[in-house]
Amino acid sequence: MELIDGNQIAAALIAELKAEVAALPGRKPCITLVRVGDDPASVSYVRKKEKTAAEIGLTSRIILPPVTISQTELFALLDELNADPTVDGILVQSPLPRHIDEVAVFRRVAPEKDVDGFNTINLGKVAQEDETGFVACTPAGIMELLARSGVDLKGKHVVVLGRSLIVGKPVALLALQKKAGANGTVTICHSATANLPAITRQADVLIAAIGRAEFVTADMVKPGAVVIDVGINRVADATKKTGHRLTGDVKFDEVAPHCSKITPVPGGVGPMTVAMLMKNTVKARRLRA
Ligand code: GUN
Repeated sequence: MELIDGNQIAAALIAELKAEVAALPGRKPCITLVRVGDDPASVSYVRKKEKTAAEIGLTSRIILPPVTISQTELFALLDELNADPTVDGILVQSPLPRHIDEVAVFRRVAPEKDVDGFNTINLGKVAQEDETGFVACTPAGIMELLARSGVDLKGKHVVVLGRSLIVGKPVALLALQKKAGANGTVTICHSATANLPAITRQADVLIAAIGRAEFVTADMVKPGAVVIDVGINRVADATKKTGHRLTGDVKFDEVAPHCSKITPVPGGVGPMTVAMLMKNTVKARRLRA
């Protein structure tokens, strides 16, 4: 079994981006991060994005509207950022408070600044295999992780567990694309799938993105499979200073011995998501130049 080291692969990507940004003429790419309220996971993700941007030499702006902001006010803020020529990329951290329609917010971000890739246009471009768009960061990170670990999906059965807009649907489309590294045969499973273990056991590459701690057990995995664990679940743990620990969607200790390759949590997909966000922001700057 080989551990796929997301930290190491992300660090290589970040070093490449740093060199690319240093060579860019004129204004440095600018990402604006919008975080509504104080969801603890979001606080930590946005901080990490800010730190990585600084490391690469990108400019970042953080906007922290109160949790009570109305959808109309949030739209007005996005309209302002969409029109601001010094802003290249805009990210609205998910989840948003319940009184706000999250997908409507994703649609409000101008497609050419939508470095998160959640806008209708950018999701459509993934389906059309149009590379002028932005691919959502976690799915893009998974594809990069596979490519840089020497996993070619051609002819492989890729089983995606989860159908979210942020991971499941776009990663399935990417794995399916008719291009080098992809060309997978893709099955998407979800909460209404019957005989789930019978399907996941067919996977040559299993991508777990269901958001349920340690859901994937050894009996659900074919020996020799590649397992990508997208889950970041906080479970209570009295032995930790924070009172919780992070665990993936895969029961790692039990599943890892059966795999040819597996990503750990933390240190697998997570760092790649952040790196791809930076890559998208550099792309946004280039496209708008
Ligand atoms: N919440 C969890 N993952 C993501 C992501 O990739 N982008 C945003 N904006 N919010 C998230």
